[in-house]
Amino acid sequence: HMKRFESREWRDSMRLRVDYNNMMQEFVGMRGIGAAMLAEQRPQYEAAALRMEEKRGEMKWRQLPFNQSEVVHQILETAAWVRRNCDAFVVLGIGGSALGPIAVQQALSHLRYNDLPAAKRSGPKLYVEDNIDPERMASLMDVIDPARTVFNVITKSGSTSETMSQLLWATDFLKNAVGDAWREHVIATTDAEKGNLIKIAKENDLRTFFVPDGVGGRFSELCPVGLLAAAVCGIDIEELLAGAAYMDALCSEQDALKNPAYILAALEVLAMKQGCNISVLMPYADSLRFMSDWYAQLWAESLGKKLVKDGKVLRFGQTPVKSLGVTDQHSQVQLYTDGPFDKTITFISVEKYRSDVAVPHVFDDIPGIAFLSGHSLGELISAEFRATEHAVTVSGHMNKNIIMPEVNEFTLGQLIMLFEMQTAFAGELLGIDAFDQPGVEEGKNATYALLGKPGYEAKLDELKKAEEAKKKLIV
Ligand code: PA5
Repeated sequence: HMKRFESREWRDSMRLRVDYNNMMQEFVGMRGIGAAMLAEQRPQYEAAALRMEEKRGEMKWRQLPFNQSEVVHQILETAAWVRRNCDAFVVLGIGGSALGPIAVQQALSHLRYNDLPAAKRSGPKLYVEDNIDPERMASLMDVIDPARTVFNVITKSGSTSETMSQLLWATDFLKNAVGDAWREHVIATTDAEKGNLIKIAKENDLRTFFVPDGVGGRFSELCPVGLLAAAVCGIDIEELLAGAAYMDALCSEQDALKNPAYILAALEVLAMKQGCNISVLMPYADSLRFMSDWYAQLWAESLGKKLVKDGKVLRFGQTPVKSLGVTDQHSQVQLYTDGPFDKTITFISVEKYRSDVAVPHVFDDIPGIAFLSGHSLGELISAEFRATEHAVTVSGHMNKNIIMPEVNEFTLGQLIMLFEMQTAFAGELLGIDAFDQPGVEEGKNATYALLGKPGYEAKLDELKKAEEAKKKLIV
């Protein structure tokens, strides 16, 4: 039968819109961006848009909505097997190998998915373990039955210490419970050739999915990294990919001012140049709260870069801040209105929530409460969004709004692609490599040294000296 996303009319009714009025001086006053500033940048935008077109083939993550029909088929088969045989599905991974699965699950599954009784859940319980806090891993053992659990170990490099330690732990846990059958309980998602995980997978005949070459961690949600966990939980991954494909088409527009991702990036880069070093993402939906964590990594790791040009060190980036409407109105909005002009706010508003709750007439004799009755919580949250957007705007702070008609697979696929394209285009405008992360190496190497990995002896000496010197200023 036909799926809803096959209808052009339905797709267009679900199109994301970018409202950037409040980034402009006309709405926000002198701290905003002038129309002339945008016009002046046009040649740069045109050149960057052209480079994006030329690099389309290199940006393998951009092809994921189009080149995975065979992979999707395998994922759906594996997911069906997991759903038949398991009570729990545990993702072991970190950074780009975990934030996407967490965000998509929160956005598209029941908001209290793991708390639902099995009969009401659309798949096994999902746990995404993106930390090696020993208390957390130990506590997991108290809530899962290894015989009814599948672990999906995800690491593109196949060598991340955190994830490999988790794999060693899970293998031991499984062996103690089910012996040689442990192999049936581990699915490896990794590079097809590089790293240690693929070796382990081959030697032990594990079910395996691949992170395609050229798809970096933070751009990997729409490959098996994110798709398998989603499919296991009953999320329609074909619709998710269709949404991403739809956004890819919208983002193929060469005129930056008509391209949703390019205009978002262009405005953010201009804001950065005006001293806005902070990028707040504030969705007005609990379902989207972990999209902020996913976005934070995407924006921070992609744009936080150092360039040496003509002997000068140039530093780039914006600090992402995660905020949730309405919750953080009561925590951060005071800062957003009266605080310094060092930030932009990106709201995500939802036109139609998947459920609504009426506010009934109960205490009609108390006027201070009675006005709420007769409305719904959906109306209330929408009104509070509009009110906060207004308050931030009249206080002169730049903000913009991504409008989602609903939160569903199709719109979320669009949102993921929109942010990925925005990030790639911002990288082009800034002249930096948005796809590497050289700054995380130092910490990794120091960890290797501390844990005695061969070849890191000099680093260990350096660390010991630094720690010795640190004794001075501890009170
Ligand atoms: O975005 C990135 O590249 C990182 O956050 C990685 O995803 C993270 O370090 C995990 O890497 P890997 O998937 O190789 O284990």
